[in-house]
Amino acid sequence: MVSSRKKLVVLSGAGVSAESGLGTFRDNGGLWDNHSVYDVATPEAFQNNPTLVLEFYNQRRRDVLKAQPNPAHRALAEAEQNFDVTVITQNVDDLHERAGSSDVYHVHGLVTQARSSLTDDVFELKGKDIHLGDTCPKGAQLRPHVVWFGEFIYHMEDAIGFVEQADIVLVVGTSLKVFPFANLVDYARADAQCFLVTQDIDAVPYGFEYKQGPASVEVPKLLRQLQTP
Ligand code: APR
Repeated sequence: MVSSRKKLVVLSGAGVSAESGLGTFRDNGGLWDNHSVYDVATPEAFQNNPTLVLEFYNQRRRDVLKAQPNPAHRALAEAEQNFDVTVITQNVDDLHERAGSSDVYHVHGLVTQARSSLTDDVFELKGKDIHLGDTCPKGAQLRPHVVWFGEFIYHMEDAIGFVEQADIVLVVGTSLKVFPFANLVDYARADAQCFLVTQDIDAVPYGFEYKQGPASVEVPKLLRQLQTP
């Protein structure tokens, strides 16, 4: 049966979780103001100082577990009543899922999971930290299931397909400075409705309508407008 509901594809970044208390990366005081990417978010960093890297992600995991979805996450989940919604997120938190979104793709992984540094098998951490010496069944050190700089991202081909099929593309809370994720906006159909909700952006992608403001206000407002026949 062909769905009569419009296809809404959401492309989200750290800004959608900012009002849940989780730091963004490039805002003032953001994560990259306080840590060098090269010390905590590259494969070389993990080789050189695994304890520092593991602790950096242990702390982010604890922050995620304490955080709650905000009205933006909830509005996106509720939009599934009126749209066929797919969320493609750069975020490694699980707030979209905890708000009720049922079709979420994490292109940069999920900090609530661990991955074997040998087999790439993924394991649920159930809130636990990862320490040096924690190994997978094959005896290899566990690492956060998070994509580091210089590593391939997940789901990119699927994500391109979803954006190409979208009737509505909604970009929320991302500076669009990290590739290839940022390229996804270029795959929107010419006849799609395209929106960008964020506090600050260097350049609004061509064809996108910019709604400047906090996601917890602008996302519910926009979805109400889109859902009103
Ligand atoms: N509401 C809406 N947008 C917000 C809010 C808010 N309350 N707070 C911040 N923002 C916006 C900022 O204006 C900025 O445009 O969110 C964006 C955050 O940008 P970044 O910090 O660069 O985060 P993001 O785009 O998700 O980074 C992408 O970079 O370091 C890597 O892997 C990391 O997934 C991350 C990727």
